[in-house]
Amino acid sequence: MSTPGSLRLSPAVAEFATDVLEGLAREHKAIPSKYFYDERGSALFDEITELAEYYPTRTERSILEVDARAMAARLGPGCVLVEYGSGSSVKTRLLLDALESPAAYVPIDVSEEHLLRAAAGIAGDYPGLRVEPVVGDFMQPIELPSSLPATARRIAYFPGSTIGNFVPGEARRLLAGMASLAGADGGALIGVDLEKPLSVLEPAYNDARGVTAAFNLNVLRRINEELDGDFDLESFEHLAFYSEVDHRIEMHLVSTVAQEVTVAGSTFHFTAGETIHTEHSHKYTRARFEELARLGGLTIVEGWTDPREWFGVFYLEPASA
Ligand code: SAH
Ligand code: TRP
Repeated sequence: MSTPGSLRLSPAVAEFATDVLEGLAREHKAIPSKYFYDERGSALFDEITELAEYYPTRTERSILEVDARAMAARLGPGCVLVEYGSGSSVKTRLLLDALESPAAYVPIDVSEEHLLRAAAGIAGDYPGLRVEPVVGDFMQPIELPSSLPATARRIAYFPGSTIGNFVPGEARRLLAGMASLAGADGGALIGVDLEKPLSVLEPAYNDARGVTAAFNLNVLRRINEELDGDFDLESFEHLAFYSEVDHRIEMHLVSTVAQEVTVAGSTFHFTAGETIHTEHSHKYTRARFEELARLGGLTIVEGWTDPREWFGVFYLEPASA
């Protein structure tokens, strides 16, 4: 393998190669987090959601269990629900159960097989619901299936605090994209992880069984398999900590020794202790999320939270001029 350009790569693999080579060439090495999610990555993520230490999924689910009817009332009858980063579409079922005759469900995800399996599961369990999965990157302009009813109200649904995995500039662009998808009379329903004590935050990303570590390391395994890499998985370690300054968990892979790694024909040097930044998970207060949404052109209409206020689900509408 020489340069990625000299190979006949599928567009998806070529983009993976370009992003990884560019990220590893930086002064502070980084790999975009969407590359965690292949079949194995999505399965590991599902395992994370069930960990004792990982509070976000069960907290968001508990909010849906109490408030899905109120959310459904805001979304209105006959809506088109477009879900960003739908994964296994598990919590979505609580919302679908509460919605009044939704016109269609459009789950969007980069993890193709996982998405198609989850979409088939929803289609099987909700006869009469039009299910139109879209395989792709939600950071790019989204092309909705042309078969959707043109006049139905469009709702961007973004659970899981995936919004937190983007730095504020990217998050603002994503929200602006949702505002434009919603149009003047649609809306957005967004799950946001809230600030809480360090003693709760840090264990959630450093579980005792090492599932989060395996998830983090999965991106190196993928690079080895798909981009002809030679990462030694034994000499990289999972690191996750909370930055009070940036209000975020940062996830890194730490090189435990000085070493060279080759990916797609390019060689990269690591000093002992040098890291690859792989993920952020920003934690918001309602006020800081409200400000971010405002910059993306959305206004909070109603919000729901759990008794400890660990997680928030917000219904937003495009700000009227
Ligand atoms: N919504 C689910 C899954 C959250 S994990 C839940 O709440 O549990 C994040 C999901 O977003 C994964 O399924 C991942 O494959 C997907 N994803 C991450 N980055 C993406 C991107 N840029 N475009 C599309 N999907 C993405
Ligand atoms: N958005 C969720 C979070 O930040 C899920 C998630 C994305 C995650 N990437 C992760 C969880 C990496 C653990 C590790 O919590």
